Amino acid sequence: MGKRYYIKTFGCQMNFNDSERIRGILRTLGYEPAERWEDADLILLNTCTIREKPDQKVLSHLGEYKKIKERNPFALIAVSGCLAQRAGWELVQKAPVIDIMFSSFNIHQLPDLINQAQAGYKAIAILDQPPEDEDRLWNFPTERDNPYCAYVTVMKGCDKNCTYCVVPVTRGRERSRSLESILEEVRRLVDDGVREIHLLGQNVTAWGRDLEGGQSFAKLLYRIAEIEGVERIRFTTGHPLDLTDEVIKAMADIPQVCNALHLPFQAGSDRILSLMERGYTKEFYLERIHRLREAVPDVALSTDVIVGFPGETDEDFEHTLDVVAIVRFEQIFSFKFSPRPGTPASEMENQVPDEVKTRRMSELLALQKSIMSDIAKSYEGTEQEVLIEEMRDTDTLIGRTTTNRWVSVRGDERLLGKIVKVKVRGSSPFNMEGEVVEVVK
Ligand code: SAH
Ligand code: SF4
Ligand code: F3S
Repeated sequence: MGKRYYIKTFGCQMNFNDSERIRGILRTLGYEPAERWEDADLILLNTCTIREKPDQKVLSHLGEYKKIKERNPFALIAVSGCLAQRAGWELVQKAPVIDIMFSSFNIHQLPDLINQAQAGYKAIAILDQPPEDEDRLWNFPTERDNPYCAYVTVMKGCDKNCTYCVVPVTRGRERSRSLESILEEVRRLVDDGVREIHLLGQNVTAWGRDLEGGQSFAKLLYRIAEIEGVERIRFTTGHPLDLTDEVIKAMADIPQVCNALHLPFQAGSDRILSLMERGYTKEFYLERIHRLREAVPDVALSTDVIVGFPGETDEDFEHTLDVVAIVRFEQIFSFKFSPRPGTPASEMENQVPDEVKTRRMSELLALQKSIMSDIAKSYEGTEQEVLIEEMRDTDTLIGRTTTNRWVSVRGDERLLGKIVKVKVRGSSPFNMEGEVVEVVK
């Protein structure tokens, strides 16, 4: 029996894409996936540390996974990702069961780290800076579950310094992946049958600024759209400051760019935005959305919001509700402010008590619920283009609209991977169903 691995991933889509690459590396080393951690020779936790909750989850999982050593004394436990980068040796001291540790800076070193650990050493490779050869990562394949939609990481790190955020520490400064390397991966994915390309970066709209030859994110979109077989393009996460007119024009011009944009605004009050050092005002954000909607009228917007940032008053919070009411997002990801070690906001005065955060959060959710049910209703009777991704039952399949909503339809496996036109029969905030009226391609 060959060796088997089990991976548990936390955090954002970039972390999921890192896990897909880790799985690709493990495949080249002869490892097969295990269904359960109890059967694995290598257990890997790819961690997130954006808020306190994910940190705690990692420690409790490690407590459980350490039992593997009783069953299989040669089994290895690895921790990668953002918590590994932030906490380093401190984490190993808390959980000495860790054999291997690395971060998003040095995933490509995993084969060496496994060798070291198998030789009985602790293979802890947490670096201050990404190493010179980090681009070697792109030479490894990814191993994906979804055959039709693929993530492609196009940039790493973040040069913004939002005062609440650990990402600049855990992922380093912005580094754009080269155009050639990206296009080559996209061509390979399309040859493999992928139809939707989802570009990833913590600050994806900043792509190209650090590259030579006047590159920009908008130009990248045009180049990807030229590749035959790319039917859909999505990207996450855009930053309001980098949602330039050039990007908006590209979104409107390029038919494959999906009618959806995730654009976090975080807070509505200018005072709080300034304490967060987001670099824009409420008016600026609303003006960008207005511009975008002029160019792409049916675009579906989603956003992130932080509730209870230090010093946030009820009056400040009203501005957050105001933005939500004006923009009418299809989806909101809202988070209670969580103080992160080493960030300026964690030391600011006037931390907001948890009960206030909870109260504001439920106000926000109630407002969003009513907006969401109106938006859901507005889909009824419309025709939507849907990429069919998965069988749900012997006669039911699910896929996503270009606005990123899941729809279920009747049909058989011949529809898998097809873009179809669906007449929407019923739609509620979390469900949508319809019937296929035409197979487009
Ligand atoms: N690069 C993206 C966000 C990445 S982190 C951007 O700038 O928009 C994902 C989300 O986590 C953020 O948008 C923010 O809403 C939330 N978040 C980040 N740090 C947080 C903290 N300390 N407390 C609560 N939420 C936080
Ligand atoms: Fe964090 Fe701000 Fe960078 Fe987003 S833009 S990753 S919130 S520092
Ligand atoms: Fe978490 Fe790191 Fe992503 S902190 S949100 S996994 S960049």
